[in-house]
Amino acid sequence: MNASPLPATGTAPVRLTSHAEVVAAAHNPKVYSSATSRFLHVPNTMDGQEHATFRALVDSYMTPQIVSGLEPVFRDLADELVRSLPVGREFDAVNDFGAQFAVRAQCAWLGWPAELEGRLLEWMDSNVAAQRSGEPERNAAVAAAFDEIVRERVDAASTDPVLSETVTAQLASELVEGRELHTDEIVSILRNWTAGDLSSLAQCVGVVVAQVLSNEDLHSRVTYLSRREADERGTRELDRIIDECIRINDPFITSKRVTTCPVTGAGGSEIPEGTRVILDWAAANRDPEVFGDPDAFDPDTNAPHNLVYGTGPHVCPGRELSTMELRVVTRALFGSDHDFSRTGPEWLTAEEPPLGGWAHVKVLFR
Ligand code: HEM
Repeated sequence: MNASPLPATGTAPVRLTSHAEVVAAAHNPKVYSSATSRFLHVPNTMDGQEHATFRALVDSYMTPQIVSGLEPVFRDLADELVRSLPVGREFDAVNDFGAQFAVRAQCAWLGWPAELEGRLLEWMDSNVAAQRSGEPERNAAVAAAFDEIVRERVDAASTDPVLSETVTAQLASELVEGRELHTDEIVSILRNWTAGDLSSLAQCVGVVVAQVLSNEDLHSRVTYLSRREADERGTRELDRIIDECIRINDPFITSKRVTTCPVTGAGGSEIPEGTRVILDWAAANRDPEVFGDPDAFDPDTNAPHNLVYGTGPHVCPGRELSTMELRVVTRALFGSDHDFSRTGPEWLTAEEPPLGGWAHVKVLFR
């Protein structure tokens, strides 16, 4: 998510991979600051009171009530998308389904027009290609292209009375500490709700589908839970299953921090002030010290240690929203009238670092 270049510090980055180290750093923002970019990222790269102020604003857009109000809308979107998928012919759960759903859901939530979907999907492709390339100029160009899309939406929401009830318009008229938000702040907030998370959601869909279709018992259970009427117990079980799938193969791999003072790392090594630190959520989520065999599927035991959505003051505010999105998607795919299965032996293509999860998950409805 923090795609911008870090300030130059002269020291090599330190990667924290154990569960204990990652949790300790995430909960110690005074030492492990999030001010890792020279660009504005609201609230991601903020610290202290400034972070708390903007974070409260962000949280107010993702309350449990708002998320449950969106659920029927998103369920219809997921069901409609599943009905449009081919039967008897393979499709890719990441690109033909996950990405499409992510874009449609986001447009519906923010009040963005359906005509934008094609442009957002193209942007997602360029973003993935830029991240794979690791070329800073390419990443900067892709980030600028996204800002352009968001800016157009903010302008439209601020001037077109028809859009005055949309989430984008509501955000554009917010006050923070008695003043209006600057356009750059509005764009940044919306960018952090969308740019990184469109891809995260598509990746999570791929991971959940791959994990469930790889395990016969799990496949039967998820199909059963998806086909029957939703109740609180079944929903909770499904949510835990989904969280456990993405713990095992976490597509949201890292977050960045920078040290504000010298600190002693694991094994007694000295980490100087100003060192870039990588919190490796994916590695921590597979730490054998905490999870034993990291591939053992145990949703209930592992839930309290799961770091897919981070921890500490920057813990993902979109957790409820993503969990609901993944739940409606899982129900739509596994609860349809068709048998849902993987294709041949080559059905999975691993994503290339620095990205995680699967680039392609080839599946079939029969
Ligand atoms: C799809 C699955 C998602 C995953 C796996 C995920 C994961 C994460 C993680 C690990 C963090 C912590 C970053 C840190 O500590 O530096 C985070 C932060 C954040 N996420 Fe998510 N996220 C997801 C979806 C979303 C969605 C749907 C939204 C908004 C609509 C969202 C908005 C944010 C924001 C704004 C932050 C920064 C919070 C802060 O700095 O206080 N995320 N996310």
